[in-house]
Amino acid sequence: METYRQEIQVAFSYPVTFTRGVFEADSPVLAGTLAARGEPGPHRALVYVDDGVVAAHPELPQRIRRYAERHAATIELARPPITVPGGERAKNGWNIVRNIMADIGNAHLDRHSFVIAVGGGSVLDCVGFAASIVHRGIRMVRVATTVLAQCDAGIGVKTGMDEHGVKNFAGTFAPPYAVLADFDFLATLADKYWHGGLSEAFKVAIIKDEAFFNYLERHAPDLAKRDGAVVGEAIKRTARLHLDHMRSGGDPFEMGAARPLDFGHWAAHKLELLSNYRLGHGQAVAVGIALDSRYAALSGRLTDGEATRIARAMQAVGLPVWDGLLEAGAGDGRPEILKGLEEFREHLGGRLTITLPQGIGRRVEVHEMDHALVLEAVRILKSAARREISVRAEREESRAGARTGAETDDLAS
Ligand SMILES: NC(=O)c1ccc[n+]([C@@H]2O[C@H](COP(=O)([O-])OP(=O)(O)OC[C@H]3O[C@@H](n4cnc5c(N)ncnc54)[C@H](O)[C@@H]3O)[C@@H](O)[C@H]2O)c1
Ligand SMILES: [Zn+2]
Repeated sequence: METYRQEIQVAFSYPVTFTRGVFEADSPVLAGTLAARGEPGPHRALVYVDDGVVAAHPELPQRIRRYAERHAATIELARPPITVPGGERAKNGWNIVRNIMADIGNAHLDRHSFVIAVGGGSVLDCVGFAASIVHRGIRMVRVATTVLAQCDAGIGVKTGMDEHGVKNFAGTFAPPYAVLADFDFLATLADKYWHGGLSEAFKVAIIKDEAFFNYLERHAPDLAKRDGAVVGEAIKRTARLHLDHMRSGGDPFEMGAARPLDFGHWAAHKLELLSNYRLGHGQAVAVGIALDSRYAALSGRLTDGEATRIARAMQAVGLPVWDGLLEAGAGDGRPEILKGLEEFREHLGGRLTITLPQGIGRRVEVHEMDHALVLEAVRILKSAARREISVRAEREESRAGARTGAETDDLAS
């Protein structure tokens, strides 16, 4: 027998740039990104734009054309910008991927040309997938337009498509050529996604960075009101923590069973599915974080006070920390939520590995979850939610009472 051990090391390097007005004619950012390697231009490109972004910015395709005309020495559009369905529709079914492959073939793009995708995490995943398989990979520039895409989904090394009834069942590891996060796009994003994306900020802060958690807690009311400066800071810090983890966590292509960046996600995946996607990913992750934080408190890893602080801070941002689906199936003794643990194990592969906070800002990996404690955590979240509802009702009642009193006074005077 003869064995030759082949060993290849490939380094990946790409910029993640935070900017504004990326398609303003005089912005140097995109043209500079394409020209950064000093290769002679113009660089041929196809541009795909999320239809939700186009609906909110109808002039965008025209603006992209003008941008290319202005920077004609650097960028040549092989076709005018192409609009693609945004949201999870992008990842469901293969027609969009087939069309993109055909476009790339018809335009004769080669491995040195560019595919540029402008949109949320779903469009970046779908267009990125198509670009990663044609010619075994065409250079991909992602222009991220949602909070989640700018701090998490759009900055990493993966693409994904939904198939076989499973989210991200198909996909590739395909580091991008560059990522551009344009904060100006966030103004038109629906609240569900604007606030929802911040769950990922809480996720990394709670397991990696106590000072950042304190920042989020302190600025929760600003985030609830969609403060642009605060969200920009939160996005950059979240992105840095994700990038640091991918770079130095030792497993960028996820070969192992541990996935610390999936803290709070085992329950979240199950809740998204049980809710038939009524719960957005961000909302489901917030509930998952609240559950795992309460579990961490019950198992001696957080204090009760820390678990309460976590829930209150997320709530103050406008994120849910309870959903009735946590109790689905509990009545007949088969709580659905517990099935999420086995499904999560299968999703990661190998041994069950769940990341929990160990004090705020640090983490620990566990390979077993005590089912009775999970259900106890559900019970505590429920009674906290009930208390919250009755306090709110009382407050509203007394406010209404004060109003009626004032009206009576008005009538009397
Ligand atoms: N590849 C990865 O590493 C990775 C990581 C995390 C999540 N993801 C994926 O990301 C996806 C979720 O992405 P998302 O949260 O960005 O949502 P999304 O891409 O599904 O977009 C949400 C909605 O907002 C619209 N939209 C996007 N930008 C807008 C803007 N600026 N103004 C107005 N509307 C806008 C879209 O058209 C869509 O209707 C999921 O499919 C998830 O699996 C991928
Ligand atoms: Zn997530």
